[in-house]
Amino acid sequence: MSIRKPLALLLVAGAIAATSVAIAANAPAGGGAAGEAGLPANADLTRIEGVAELEGADIVRGKRMYGQQGGNCISCHGWDGNGLGKNPRSEGNAALLRESGLDAAGFIEIIGCGIPGSPMPYHDSQAYKDDRCYGMTKADFEAGGEPHKGKAIKKNDIVNLVAYIMTSIQAKPAATYEDCVAWFEGTADKNCAGMKP
Ligand code: HEC
Repeated sequence: MSIRKPLALLLVAGAIAATSVAIAANAPAGGGAAGEAGLPANADLTRIEGVAELEGADIVRGKRMYGQQGGNCISCHGWDGNGLGKNPRSEGNAALLRESGLDAAGFIEIIGCGIPGSPMPYHDSQAYKDDRCYGMTKADFEAGGEPHKGKAIKKNDIVNLVAYIMTSIQAKPAATYEDCVAWFEGTADKNCAGMKP
């Protein structure tokens, strides 16, 4: 464990505190609609309405970014964001995205920049090459303490992904059988049998 962890986390906390959700008066709601294929029945589009950072976001595409074809967030955070993914790097401890208090800017920053000193990887391919992330570059970390690199995700797909998380995972109660079917769609029979009421 790098001794820089506390510093890095302080920087993260500071960056989050400094951001706030901008409300655009006439920004259209994100793409997609509640009840749309693949989204949970309780997906709440009003949570991202008027959030300038997420304008025009495609929530269904964001769902794909959360899965194996995208950033593979499920491997650590679980399909339902309960933090119980099986990836050995996160030891079943990944943050509970359902309980996250982050706003859109905070999600965008953490997904792009990761959380140095923790298993949470960065997904912006340019992160730490320049100082866009917390004002730090790779040279600021000790050997072995560098931030982990995740699958590269383009900026607009990070926006789509955040729109999916904020409408379909964050602030939701424990996932239900129906949520499981919505996530797995075609393979629900196999993956959701254990959750059948
Ligand atoms: C290798 C495992 C791993 C992968 C892959 C991963 N994460 Fe994480 N993530 C973590 C861990 C562990 C934490 C908690 C870090 C800490 O606070 O010490 C975390 C924290 C977070 C947080 C902060 C939540 C909060 O409220 O503070 C967000 C947001 C997040 N992850 C989103 C994502 C998204 C989206 C993806 C996919 C693009 C992803 N993560 C991929 C392990 C992972």
